[in-house]
Amino acid sequence: MYRFVFSQVLSRLDPEDVHRLTVRALRLLSVTPVVRRLVHRRLAPRDPALRVRAFGVHFPGPFGLAAGFDKDAGCVEAMSALGFGHVEVGTITAHAQPGNARPRLFRLAGNRAIINRMGFNNDGASAAARRLRRSRGVPAIVGVNIGKTKVVPESGAVEDYVASATALAPLADYLVVNVSSPNTPGLRDLQAVELLEPLLRAVKKVADATPKRTPLLVKIAPDLADADVDAVADLALEIGLDGIIATNTTVDREALTAPERPAGRDAVRESGGLSGRPLKARSLEVLRRLRARVGDRLVLVSVGGVEDADDVWERLLAGATLVQGYSALVYEGPLWAYRIHRGLARRLRRQGVSDLREIIGRTAA
Ligand SMILES: Cc1cc2nc3c(=O)[nH]c(=O)nc-3n(C[C@H](O)[C@H](O)[C@H](O)COP(=O)(O)O)c2cc1C
Repeated sequence: MYRFVFSQVLSRLDPEDVHRLTVRALRLLSVTPVVRRLVHRRLAPRDPALRVRAFGVHFPGPFGLAAGFDKDAGCVEAMSALGFGHVEVGTITAHAQPGNARPRLFRLAGNRAIINRMGFNNDGASAAARRLRRSRGVPAIVGVNIGKTKVVPESGAVEDYVASATALAPLADYLVVNVSSPNTPGLRDLQAVELLEPLLRAVKKVADATPKRTPLLVKIAPDLADADVDAVADLALEIGLDGIIATNTTVDREALTAPERPAGRDAVRESGGLSGRPLKARSLEVLRRLRARVGDRLVLVSVGGVEDADDVWERLLAGATLVQGYSALVYEGPLWAYRIHRGLARRLRRQGVSDLREIIGRTAA
């Protein structure tokens, strides 16, 4: 049904308009408790075998919504009701900002992929904090992903992240320092250990000071060289972070296939971050590398090119405790998370597994 609507209607409309309308509809669902509860009862993961505990937080299922869909924390309850085991909101910056000029969001349906150069369009940390405060009390696990305000120079980055963390850490089930979006100039340079260390230490101080000590993770790019992935992993261990989210979108276009492989002059497709199916292999590779480096000392959250329950299963075996997705939601529709958790539950039952911990990292080196 959704596939029909997608091919006949949605694919002909501007992607950002569709996204805006979708979020608006989901916001309505979020503030309509009766319907929301009904949807939640039908679609949210309930099988006890799917439950997983990570950094002290209990997740109803391992599969969650990646950052970038709900940038302003407007539809957390709706996405939870639709079956996502957690919702990562953001990226949120200390100051509100409009993001890059449109068009900035492109579907590559032939590759089941998306290219975006949104540039952290969001209402800022105080507005997000207000929304999150309002939405407390519903069964939703909320991660808050923070990034640097575009106009703030690199020399002010630490204070800028600290401002967001101060406003948002008390409202988050976990906090993510995003240093891996390709759409804010210079942001990914913060992944260099010399810059990353003071940044993470400063944000950690804020996260540690909340009443429940908010778990802190860092989100990395798939385009890091392997040695740099190791360096970030070592740093995360040294500082005592709770986990790593891998990966963000890629600037690499090698995995794109025709007809959407960009020709030299196709500037639209040249800039921005690529996500979805073409990212799958590299995302899995980074996960394997991280697991080999840190074992189970950090929580690994795998994201990039996940499309179905088989993909989630593979990530769990490779050592991820949690898995996220975004791009395939566009092609699969609103029942996507429900289907993934249902598929996982069946597979667990078939294999006689009653606790996800039995399979996490089973195929890891
Ligand atoms: C339109 C769009 C916007 C995104 N915005 C953000 C963002 O603001 N912050 C972030 O950390 N990741 C962002 N991402 C990256 C996703 O969270 C995810 O890491 C990436 O898309 C890979 O997962 P996927 O292949 O399942 O989409 C965005 C992705 C897309 C497609």
